[in-house]
Amino acid sequence: MKFFIDTGNLAQIKEANDLGILDGVTTNPSLMAKEGIKGEEAIAQHYKTICELVDGDVSAEVLSTDFETMVEEGKKLAAIHPNIVVKVPVIKDGIKAIKWFTDNGIRTNCTLVFSAGQGILAAKAGASYISPFLGRLDDSGWDGLELIAQLRHIFDVQDYKTEILAASIRSPLHIIKAAELGADICTCPLDSIVGLLKHPLTDIGLAKFLEDAKKM
Ligand code: G3P
Repeated sequence: MKFFIDTGNLAQIKEANDLGILDGVTTNPSLMAKEGIKGEEAIAQHYKTICELVDGDVSAEVLSTDFETMVEEGKKLAAIHPNIVVKVPVIKDGIKAIKWFTDNGIRTNCTLVFSAGQGILAAKAGASYISPFLGRLDDSGWDGLELIAQLRHIFDVQDYKTEILAASIRSPLHIIKAAELGADICTCPLDSIVGLLKHPLTDIGLAKFLEDAKKM
């Protein structure tokens, strides 16, 4: 399973990248706004900086919801750097736009996926990635991991090439379970990635080793 970081924060991207395990970055308008990035030029520059920091795909989301404007926006985003993947919401015009991007050699990440049906349509349109939002499903009383399992089964049976990018990760356990269920990628906040390392027995064991090392 590939690891992406889900943030627009350059320090966090750098920290995850320095671990040597980072395969890409996902952003969304909320994450970009959180970093105070405003205006077309600043947004493009921020994406360029991220692409230069990380050797992997960087998802950049369109801000429009109609086919024509999404296509125009997506073309501009894709021109920023070869690693840009255009993130498109799973709505009617979004599916049309994903098909257009697919036919024109622009890679896409279909976002805001909350059902298997949405995932099937995005895959049929040729999305490179689909982003099922685990945490938001869990928050609303559904089972996000069940959706990952269902999508994995469908994509295998149908031989869809679209990659399943587990998103809206809330905990290290989400990452472990997504890996177990066969998600192709997990996009995670830095805390959840680093959280994978935590175990009290590791801390206790290391303290003892360091103490005994003094006797060597
Ligand atoms: O980037 C999409 C997704 O990961 C958002 O996560 O935590 O806002 O539900 P969250």
